[in-house]
Amino acid sequence: MKVVVSIGGSVLAPDLQSQRVREHAAVIESLASEGCTIGAVVGGGGVARDYIGTARNLGANEIELDDIGIDVTRLNARLLIAALGEQAAPSPPETYEEAGTAMHRGDIAVMGGVMPGQTTDAVSAALAEYVNADLLVYATSVPGVFSDDPNEVDDATKYTELTAGELVDVIADLEMVAGSSAPVDLLAAKLIERSGVRTIVLDGTEPQRIADAVLRGEHDGTDVVPAGADDEMTYWVDDEL
Ligand code: UTP
Repeated sequence: MKVVVSIGGSVLAPDLQSQRVREHAAVIESLASEGCTIGAVVGGGGVARDYIGTARNLGANEIELDDIGIDVTRLNARLLIAALGEQAAPSPPETYEEAGTAMHRGDIAVMGGVMPGQTTDAVSAALAEYVNADLLVYATSVPGVFSDDPNEVDDATKYTELTAGELVDVIADLEMVAGSSAPVDLLAAKLIERSGVRTIVLDGTEPQRIADAVLRGEHDGTDVVPAGADDEMTYWVDDEL
């Protein structure tokens, strides 16, 4: 089973705590030992926002700001690589081809951003499409896809299951509201729709939840199920990978 795990920077490194990174690495290692081929994509979190805010005040343009954000995502990726040791490719792949080659070799590929004008949400979806992943998991700080921003709207409801087309519509509506943050951005949603990769959006602040979702399909987040797919994946039903 081929899996791409997208770990938000605010999930992996809201502050620099080696124990938290170690716990995420341990979950990824456990998936690898269960036979999964894994690509991970790490976000920049608050540190990226701080750098971008400071550089914006200093007059950097938007592309320069994106490049700074990318650098921070790669720094975070290097933390996960350090914790994974020899099982991981030694540096964050800068292209999908590089990441795919590392995964093909049997290494765990840990990427950050790749180019300005997007976020690691889209990188994760693109990597999943590139390597033809069976499953894409977004480990975010929000427990799924909601009708509204749950931090802003009290009665925001969580979707337990969406088609990829519905995901695009929900995210497009969310992004119309200034300042509201969606757990997955619109470009990523469109790439998910295009590739038809099965996707789970979950609260990844407790890393074990990622393993439960990947290995057994058990989670409290949102399933994005491609049109025509069964509710359960065969290896969840058969308990095989
Ligand atoms: P993130 O993926 O962490 O962005 O990349 P985000 O969605 O703003 O962060 P979360 O999900 O709320 O934690 C950090 C920044 O790096 C740049 C963008 O500026 C992004 O905001 N970036 C990242 C790129 O320009 N290209 C990429 O491929 C990835």
